Amino acid sequence: MVGITETVLRDGHQSLLATRMRTKFMLPVAEQLDAIGYRSLEVWGGATFDVCLRFLHEDPWERLRELKRRIRSTPLQMLLRGQNLVGYRHYADDVVERFVAEAARQGVDIFRVFDALNDPRNMATAIRAVKKAGARAQGTICYTESPVHTLPAFVALGKSLAAFGADELCIKDMGGFMPPGPAAELVRALRKEVGLPVVVHTHSSSGLSTLTCLAAADAGAAAVDAALSPFAGGASQPPTETIVGALRGGPLATNLDLSALAELATYFRGVLEHYRPLLDLRSLQTDPGILLHQVPGGMLSNLISQLKDQEAIDRLPDVLAEIPRVRADLGYPPLVTPTSQIVGIQAVFNVVAGERYRTITQEVRDYVRGLYGQAPAPLDPALVRKVLADSAPITVRPADLLKPEFAAALAGVRALVPAADDAEALSYALFPQVYQRYRAARDVGLTPEVLACAGVGILGAFRARTPARAVTGPSRAGGGDAGVSAWAHEGRARLQGSRRWVDAARTRDRR
Ligand code: CO
Repeated sequence: MVGITETVLRDGHQSLLATRMRTKFMLPVAEQLDAIGYRSLEVWGGATFDVCLRFLHEDPWERLRELKRRIRSTPLQMLLRGQNLVGYRHYADDVVERFVAEAARQGVDIFRVFDALNDPRNMATAIRAVKKAGARAQGTICYTESPVHTLPAFVALGKSLAAFGADELCIKDMGGFMPPGPAAELVRALRKEVGLPVVVHTHSSSGLSTLTCLAAADAGAAAVDAALSPFAGGASQPPTETIVGALRGGPLATNLDLSALAELATYFRGVLEHYRPLLDLRSLQTDPGILLHQVPGGMLSNLISQLKDQEAIDRLPDVLAEIPRVRADLGYPPLVTPTSQIVGIQAVFNVVAGERYRTITQEVRDYVRGLYGQAPAPLDPALVRKVLADSAPITVRPADLLKPEFAAALAGVRALVPAADDAEALSYALFPQVYQRYRAARDVGLTPEVLACAGVGILGAFRARTPARAVTGPSRAGGGDAGVSAWAHEGRARLQGSRRWVDAARTRDRR
C-alpha cells in the first residue's frame, strides 16, 4: 500500500493560485477530507503564512487551529524552510525552536523540513525542535541535477538528517523534472542505506509527475504527494484521483474511495471557479521546456514579470541560457525559494546589463560570503574574488552568527498589541512590517470580507497611509520582509494579470 499526502490546502493552491485560497473555503469540507483516509493533509507552511498576513489579512495560526478542530484523525502537515521557517532569511535558533513548538501545539503533526542548499546544518535545529515537540520530522532532500548531485551525495544527506532524528525522508522535486528512473533509484538507495520511510513530492510542470510517483511507489516509497484534480496538474502536484485509480486493485493500492474523492473534487472545482480571475493559463499547462532549463514554474513567472518591468521580455531566452551558468558559478544550488530568486535575478542583471556581474545583487554577495550556508560545490573563484576582495568567507553555520531574537520580538509586538501571545510574537518576528499592516487593517475593521468587497484599490490607499516602522535586527541573509518577497511579487503580477483579464472580459461583454 502507498499513502497519499493531499496538498489541495497548501501546495495545490500555492502552485496554481499564488496561495490565495481563503480559510472559509477550506473549513466546509475539512471533516470530509479527514474521512478520506489520507496519510496526511498538507495545510500549512510554505507561502501560506506570508500570504495570509500580507494579502488575505487572515491570521495563519487561526487557520491552523480551525482546521485542527475539524480534522481529528488525519495528521496535519506543514512545509518548513529549515532555519528560514516560513520566511525569507535565517532566524535565530530561539525563534526556530519557539515557532516549531507553537506550530506543534496548535496542530501540526508532521513537519517537512528542507533547506534550499541541502545544507544539513540549516535543518538541524528545526528537526531537533520537532522531535522535542513530540511531532514527526520529515527530513528533506531537494532533488536537483548537477555534476555533484550524485546518488552517494543524496544518501549522505539522508544519513545526516537521520542523525538529527528525522523519522522519515522526503525527496522534494520542486522543479517537477525528476524522471521515473532516477526517482526509483533514489528511493531504493535511501530505503537501503538510511532505512527510513521515504515520501516523494513532485510537481507536474514537465508532465512527468504521475509517472515519477508510480515509479517511486513501485520502488518502495511510503507515500507520494497529490492534489485533488481541480488543483492538480501544471505547476501543482499530480491528481490524487489519477494516482488512486492507477494503483487500484494492485499490491500498492491506496484504498482511498474514488467516489468520495469525486465529491470533494466537485466542491473544489467550485472554489477554483471563484478564483478564476487569478488563474494564469501558463500555470495549468505542461511545459516540457523544464526538462532543458530546469527553471521551476513560480520562478519562470517571476522572471517574466521582472523582464516585462524592464521592457526586456525579448531577452527571456538569453536569461534562460544564463541561469545554468550563474547556478554553476554559485556551486550548483538547487533552484527553490530563496535560491531560485537569487540565481534568477542575478541572471537577469547579467543579461540586461550586457556584462556578467557588472552589478552583483546583495543576495549574491551574502550567498558568496556563506550567509545562506554551504553551497553544494565550490564557487567560481573569479566571482569569489570579486565579491570578497580580501575578506574571508564565513564557514560556520549561518545561524551561529545570530543573537537570540524572540524576546525583542515579544516586546515589539506587545508595544503594538499589549495582549499579544507567543503566536503573535512569532508572526511579528517573521514579518514585522507585514504584521503591523495586518494588525492596523484588522483593528479598523478591514476584515477579509470587507476587503474582498472593497477591492485592491482601497487596500493600496490604506497601506500608503500607514507607513511601516523600520525594524532593525541582526545581520540577515535574504533581506527583511518589505516588498522583497518573491511571492509578493508573484502576487502583484497575478493581480495585475487578473485586472487585465477582468478588463478584457468587460470589453468582450460590451461588444
Ligand atoms: Co512543492
